[in-house]
Amino acid sequence: MIFQQILNEESGCLSYLVGCGQAGRAVIVDPGRDRVHEYLRLARRRGLTITHVVETHTHADHISGNRDLATATGAPIFAHAAAGLAFDHERLRDGDAIGVGNIRLTVAHTPGHTPDSICLLVTDLERGAEPWFVLTGDTLFVGSVGRPDLGGARAAEEAYESLTRVLLRLDDSVEIYPAHGAGSACGRAMSAKTGSTIGFERRFNAALGLRDRAAFVDFIMRDLPPKPPQFEKIVGKNRGLIPLHSAKPRPYAAREAWEAVQRGECVVDLRDPGTYGESHIPGALNVWIDSPQFAERVAWAVPTGVPLLLLAPGPSDLERAVQALSRVGVDEVAGFLQWGMIEWKSCGFPLETVPQITVHDLLEWLEEGRDLAVIDVREPFEWLDGHIDGAIHLPMMECVACRDLVPPDRPKAVLCAGGLRSSTVISALKRHGIQHWYNVTGGMTAWTKSGYPIARPTTVGPAPAASPGRTMLDCRGLDCPMPVMKLGKAIKTVPPGATIELLATDPGSMVDLEAFEKQSGHRIVERGESAGVFRFVVQRTK
Ligand SMILES: [Fe+2]
Repeated sequence: MIFQQILNEESGCLSYLVGCGQAGRAVIVDPGRDRVHEYLRLARRRGLTITHVVETHTHADHISGNRDLATATGAPIFAHAAAGLAFDHERLRDGDAIGVGNIRLTVAHTPGHTPDSICLLVTDLERGAEPWFVLTGDTLFVGSVGRPDLGGARAAEEAYESLTRVLLRLDDSVEIYPAHGAGSACGRAMSAKTGSTIGFERRFNAALGLRDRAAFVDFIMRDLPPKPPQFEKIVGKNRGLIPLHSAKPRPYAAREAWEAVQRGECVVDLRDPGTYGESHIPGALNVWIDSPQFAERVAWAVPTGVPLLLLAPGPSDLERAVQALSRVGVDEVAGFLQWGMIEWKSCGFPLETVPQITVHDLLEWLEEGRDLAVIDVREPFEWLDGHIDGAIHLPMMECVACRDLVPPDRPKAVLCAGGLRSSTVISALKRHGIQHWYNVTGGMTAWTKSGYPIARPTTVGPAPAASPGRTMLDCRGLDCPMPVMKLGKAIKTVPPGATIELLATDPGSMVDLEAFEKQSGHRIVERGESAGVFRFVVQRTK
């Protein structure tokens, strides 16, 4: 058995090579478009011929490399019959098996995340007749489960059935390898670890510990993370309904770029926020190439159907950017500024700036009572963890649609966790004619590290009533930084078998509670998270 997991660190996507050394054949599962050369290289190095290309489902967050890989190797593409692919492929059904030498991959149809989701139970026939591990696609992640991409609550019910019928029946020792890890938008609270076992997930995966179907549906439908940008377009391309193009950017001289900008083409400035802030091309979108989720952020920010011109810090960054953008289906890259800002400036074309300020400047200005709106563009869970009192909360993905909430004439200081998303938001809103911006470098991380005042969710409202017969322990907010200590005392006040419902906003509560469970022997019987509030139900066992 040859097994290799291939991690795309930028996107959290995981693909796999599973092969048989004796037979010299291999299957590639869930290939990414920007990793095709890597699969070919891997196979060549190990003396393997790629004979099958398999999809666990139709992906919505990245473009599959299946057709490029099939063209390069001659291997057929396999996908579940429900995928409805508009190009040549073999249709898989529940119970089908793919064999490469001594390795067997058995198909289990597991609808939920998508109607065509499958898991592949992989058996090494030389070692035994039982599956050794499962490639779970986006059905089960390490620490999480796949959200329903389509179909809402009904699809969530299907996911529950798939997990119960297929995966939870497997032995604890069976390993799992998902199609995504931390950093992906395809689920929440995914672990940075890229493999686990059925047994560990059975014990510690919050979604698998829920008592029934209704609780499961409620859990996974609550606070779904934003859908990947260009969701429908990516699915359309992966199904073969929208043609795939490869970007072939050509060099632009500054004058050509200036004319292109005037025609409405969009410059994507890949430099860091500080350099962008010093001087940039009017209308440029700023997404630093080394940002987390770089390609996803560009895909979200760029206007659809508009040719893009890249402004890269260096020549190697350009190739990297085009490759990353191809992964999310942003192929409208028409060109790049050949001589960057040097030529632009020497030609005397217009320039704009965004002043960068520190958190110390910001505090000073607020204390002076300067007229300044503070805009926080982080996700709701980050906002609830602590924010600047009086700030306007406008998550990045919503800022363009909700730009009416931005006071147009007041100076505005924008912050996120570190100063990258804030710069992207400023550049996106500048394209809509909104001016007077400051980017706060270091963002809320620097603000918190400096010990400056933060407001925590006093806005979460009164604690909901506990379920009948259950004690409620409300540990939300700054007043209760150590929920586990309160729980330790409270659990002694209820009879054995009774439960306590605990609400907490401390992000460390999950780890603390798990340690408490191990040390004390009391059991966490339910766990969940909604809008930054963790909820645990703990049962006294003795
Ligand atoms: Fe997916």
